[in-house]
Amino acid sequence: MIQSLRHHRSGDRLGTSLASPRSAAISPAQVASRGPQGGVIVTGMTTQSAIHGGPSLPQHRNLVTEIPGPMSRDLFERRGRSVARGLSHVLPVFVTAAGGGVLVDVDGNSLIDFGSGIAVTSVGNSADLVVSRVTEQVAQFTHTCFMVAPYEGYVEVCEQLNRLTPGTHDKRSALFNSGAEAVENAVKVARHATGRDAVVVFDHAYHGRTNLTMAMTAKNMPYKEGFGPFAGEVYRMPMAYPFRWPGGPARCAEEALSVVTSLIHAQVGEENVAAVVIEPIQGEGGFIVPPAGFLPGLAAYCQANGIVFIADEIQSGFCRTGDWFACDHEGVVPDLVTTAKGIAGGLPLAGVTGRAELMDAVHPGGLGGTYGGNPVACAAALGAIDTMEKEDLPAAARSIEAMMLPRLRQLAAANPLIGDVRGRGAMLAIELVRPGTIEPDAAAAAKVAKTCHGNGMIVLTCGTFGNVLRFLPPLVMGESLLTEGLSILEDAFATL
Ligand SMILES: Cc1ncc(COP(=O)(O)O)c(C=O)c1O
Repeated sequence: MIQSLRHHRSGDRLGTSLASPRSAAISPAQVASRGPQGGVIVTGMTTQSAIHGGPSLPQHRNLVTEIPGPMSRDLFERRGRSVARGLSHVLPVFVTAAGGGVLVDVDGNSLIDFGSGIAVTSVGNSADLVVSRVTEQVAQFTHTCFMVAPYEGYVEVCEQLNRLTPGTHDKRSALFNSGAEAVENAVKVARHATGRDAVVVFDHAYHGRTNLTMAMTAKNMPYKEGFGPFAGEVYRMPMAYPFRWPGGPARCAEEALSVVTSLIHAQVGEENVAAVVIEPIQGEGGFIVPPAGFLPGLAAYCQANGIVFIADEIQSGFCRTGDWFACDHEGVVPDLVTTAKGIAGGLPLAGVTGRAELMDAVHPGGLGGTYGGNPVACAAALGAIDTMEKEDLPAAARSIEAMMLPRLRQLAAANPLIGDVRGRGAMLAIELVRPGTIEPDAAAAAKVAKTCHGNGMIVLTCGTFGNVLRFLPPLVMGESLLTEGLSILEDAFATL
């Protein structure tokens, strides 16, 4: 049997009006290739329940069992017998297809995705241009190792990173497999180029799970507990966190800068600092947006002291916050930028991009790895970047903010449990506290999340105190799903 499908855009992207056709029943294993217009050519038997992912997946929530359903529960039991306990799950539903802003599970439930696989599928799951480029590449060659025999896709991704990251100076890039690996390599470059050892990081920071990045990450449980000893020469400074700044939000930028710079002077010595590493909007730490002026002030301080300013844009980058990078919002130009997550539509890829003189300070062979910049992941990145540009996803993120923020503020006005509403673009959050205080209420956040999950919406928590609900919809999510997701959230608060 051969069947050609695709590709109407599903959903009703903000500012557009689009049809939402039901796709035919096809299992991903049966997808052999895509036709000239991106249509899927399917061979083999279809199964009754199988549907295929991508943008043509119907963009609606549909619950046919409790969450998790019986098949997911069975798989979860199997998972318990074979997969390490150290890996946890937000929601124990097993996915068979995903597209746009919807995940379909093995029981046939369609869930609204406000998590994007932790800020990864910004272009939507199995976006057309990602799938077509990956399919083409995978049929050509899957690996050579860029350090053995190079290929154009790697160079093209580096060219795109150099073009899109903040600043018009001469840049170079290098590619890796994960965000943590990118952060490690950015620190390697900074240390090598400056000849200094110390790395300055912040309260609430998250930079990954390798030994150095665990040391750079603030939160102990679950990321660091029992995994020490950690890498040395990492110094933690207070973060400009307006909601919790002792002097209040209005004084946060100025006071935080003053505290950070005087602590560096007193405890580390500027001349010993290779790099200051900061997430321009902190991710796992609670979607903390530093007040205006803090990042530019920090960047200027670094420049004045010969310190490499590294922006970890792994979660905030690639259109998520309404600009290509969160640093763009205040015109901050970092010396080095780390990227991952949204860069490649779900395939594992990460990058370090920065000033040519810093990147090229490292001797040949000093950077690299077997898989870094794998050709299939590079093809995915080129497809994702093309999608971001063609569909103007920075603008889509701004539209999501314009649509969601007022409703989150309304919800906060009616709910004294919500102490703060913050974020930018499609990186938004609410922080839950005991009413009338700033005492974190992680239990309430967990309860709201659990209710949302039971009602077919994936929402993630975060924050050093576990009391923040964060919203990271794919940037291609349609207005009706966003609206429905917000209604589910409001209903969850009503049940508290
Ligand atoms: C800001 C930031 N840096 C680094 C990382 C680590 O990325 P990865 O999980 O790909 O190693 C993350 C992941 O959440 C992140 O949000």
